[in-house]
Amino acid sequence: MVLYFIGLGLEDEKDITVKGLYAVKKSDYVFLENYTSLLQVPVEKLEEFYGKKIIGADRNLVENNADEILDKAKDKNVSFLVVGDIFGATTHTDLWLRAKEKNIECRFIHNASVINVAGSVGLELYKFGKTTSIVFPEKNYNPKTAYDVIKMNKKNGLHTLCLLDIKSKDNKFMSVKEGLNLLLEKENELGKKLINGDTKVIGCARLGCKDKKIKYSVVKDLLKEDFGKPPHCIIVPGELHFIEEEALKNWV
Ligand SMILES: C[S@@+](CC[C@H](N)C(=O)[O-])C[C@H]1O[C@@H](n2cnc3c(N)ncnc32)[C@H](O)[C@@H]1O
Repeated sequence: MVLYFIGLGLEDEKDITVKGLYAVKKSDYVFLENYTSLLQVPVEKLEEFYGKKIIGADRNLVENNADEILDKAKDKNVSFLVVGDIFGATTHTDLWLRAKEKNIECRFIHNASVINVAGSVGLELYKFGKTTSIVFPEKNYNPKTAYDVIKMNKKNGLHTLCLLDIKSKDNKFMSVKEGLNLLLEKENELGKKLINGDTKVIGCARLGCKDKKIKYSVVKDLLKEDFGKPPHCIIVPGELHFIEEEALKNWV
């Protein structure tokens, strides 16, 4: 029997590929990973369109109790649905490797991810450096990783895609404003002249969706902008080719 890893794309129930839909239809169990991103429609819409009951898979199930998924795939077809692409988050490689250890056959059905749809702002995908995440600070955990990654990419003339933290249990999604404020806080702390109110960045929300919002402006203006529903991300441009500059004029 087969464990299908299926990317759902970024917007709604209809972004699944035809191949993905066939696999779901053939499956006895359908799990939806529900903690690394979110679609713009409720899960009931997926159930209606796919004609299947969907089981929510939170981080604890996927990372600590993966056997609940894997044991089913030993003698039944199981679909594991992921918003965006299946490998747009590190956590799913682990599930695949565990399945392999148990000799479970895995098939991968890909889809659009924020990682490549970020190119829709008009920056060349090949000129992005390391992707980073800006995380909600916690007591004893307030890393400067995102700041350092942007600094390194900038030094090499590369763009940076900053993904923004999600606390799915609390239904909390970091906004462009929160992400920028955290970068400004790090600037105050570290003082390496990476970012200030006059730095130009791109704020994005719901990329790949009908109501996407993209705004290219200085940080102090973006802090006042309402980007609406999540998910949001921030792109810090590196060196701009004149075609990229031309494309960014669409979002001023
Ligand atoms: C772990 S990543 C992406 C995982 C997903 N599997 C994928 O391939 O797109 C989740 C983060 O990416 C960003 N993101 C995801 N979808 C987005 C979208 N449509 N528009 C803007 N940002 C998005 C948000 O910052 C979100 O917190």
